Amino acid sequence: MHIVAVDQGTTSTRAIVFDERGAIVASGQREHEQIFPQAGWVEHDAAEIWTNTRAVIDVAVQNARLEASDVAAIGITNQRETAVVWDRLTGEPVYNAIVWQDTRTQALIDTLAADGGVRRFADITGLPLATYFSASKIAWILDNVDGARERAENGDLLFGTPDTWVLWNLTGGVDGGVHATDVTNASRTLLMDLRTLDWDDALLKAFGVPRAMLPTILSSSEVYGKAVGTSLDGIPIAGILGDQQAATFGQVAFERGESKNTYGTGNFLIVNTGEDIVDSENGLVTTVAYRLGDESPKYALEGSIAVTGSLVQWLRDNLGLIKDSADVEELALSVEDNGGVYIVPAFSGLFAPYWRPDARGAILGLTRFANKGHIARAALEAVAFQTREVLDAVIADTNVSLEELRVDGGMVGNDSLMQFQADVLGVPVVRPAIIETTALGAAYAAGLAVGVWADLDELRAMWHEDERWEPQIDDAERERRLARWRKAVTRTFDWVD
Ligand code: G3P
Repeated sequence: MHIVAVDQGTTSTRAIVFDERGAIVASGQREHEQIFPQAGWVEHDAAEIWTNTRAVIDVAVQNARLEASDVAAIGITNQRETAVVWDRLTGEPVYNAIVWQDTRTQALIDTLAADGGVRRFADITGLPLATYFSASKIAWILDNVDGARERAENGDLLFGTPDTWVLWNLTGGVDGGVHATDVTNASRTLLMDLRTLDWDDALLKAFGVPRAMLPTILSSSEVYGKAVGTSLDGIPIAGILGDQQAATFGQVAFERGESKNTYGTGNFLIVNTGEDIVDSENGLVTTVAYRLGDESPKYALEGSIAVTGSLVQWLRDNLGLIKDSADVEELALSVEDNGGVYIVPAFSGLFAPYWRPDARGAILGLTRFANKGHIARAALEAVAFQTREVLDAVIADTNVSLEELRVDGGMVGNDSLMQFQADVLGVPVVRPAIIETTALGAAYAAGLAVGVWADLDELRAMWHEDERWEPQIDDAERERRLARWRKAVTRTFDWVD
């Protein structure tokens, strides 16, 4: 039997076919347009995303030479927080999807934070008030699209994060599509109570979001509905996890204290805290790790870094320093060290652990000596330094030090980055055999629900180490580098009025 995982990410949508041993059999992938209407605004065309989703499912199934009957279930994983609002009757989005990186709603966030500060809703949601999460994006659409608020109140408009948008369309859309999400995605909206796992009326009121437009919150592993159309017609959709929680699941970090760090568009470090809802005092967010059927939910602390892989894309697309993202390693290795250059990629302000919407990106330490190799090197180092700062926050919040860091995601094929990461962390960095852990996690959740795998132990046994990097610098050198980085970060503050 096989499982198909759909990974609707920030830059592309993929479908990956896994076999029962968790090995990749085939895949399909399509990028979608990144729409930047103004500085700070980031949008996607939700209709394009759905078209791509359908296409990649068909490509993956065809490449695997499978019939629908060879597939036991479908799992969905997705870029989180991104808000899609669409018409229930026509299936048309009323506005482009507003992406998690979008900062247009800062004024609304400031107004809400004026009464009680940015931690105003943290007790209930685990999240600080920030443009990052879905709530203010939904409010913006309702306030700015003609007639949207009234239609939403009448129940004619639906909201969903990309998992919900894909699920609704994949289960028939206007002809009876299932309007649901899972607990992990719901926990990123700023509208869900972490304890009741339901939408919270006080929060809905604060953001002006009608309950009628919100999806039903279900677990991460159960049958939500059956696919209608595509080459998987009739196959159950049985797993949904936000992409970072999916990667945590794919890295089999099921127990308290287990963790992973994913290197994607941004970096997201998650530490499982078991059944405890741990309140962060160091800039992490509290989130749901997963919930299997009726079992009690597992929670996590997360350090969310907005810009890591997208910094390399920026070197490629906006500066033209490299042709392909993978070329960054060679360019970085063309110089001996960073030459004193630091890049702080505060493109959307800074997320964890600083949460500074007023920060903007900066390249510091430039001299006439600096060249593009130093810039490339500084970009990779910025990825590792940001991760180190998030890890420090995890240790401060949990009082538990990490023995090693499990990594995954697109950038972990970059050996120099991994070595530098181990150096600045002072702990080994470990890469598993399958680095597509996001899709794997969604496949695991779906397979568990339909009985392809019996339990978590069976999944645990499938995890294998591929490579390990040990720290190669001493504490004094590590501290010297970190001090410079921290100084550079403070120089980006107070830029936006
Ligand atoms: O919170 C945003 C995150 O889910 C996006 O992940 O992998 O699409 O950059 P990615």
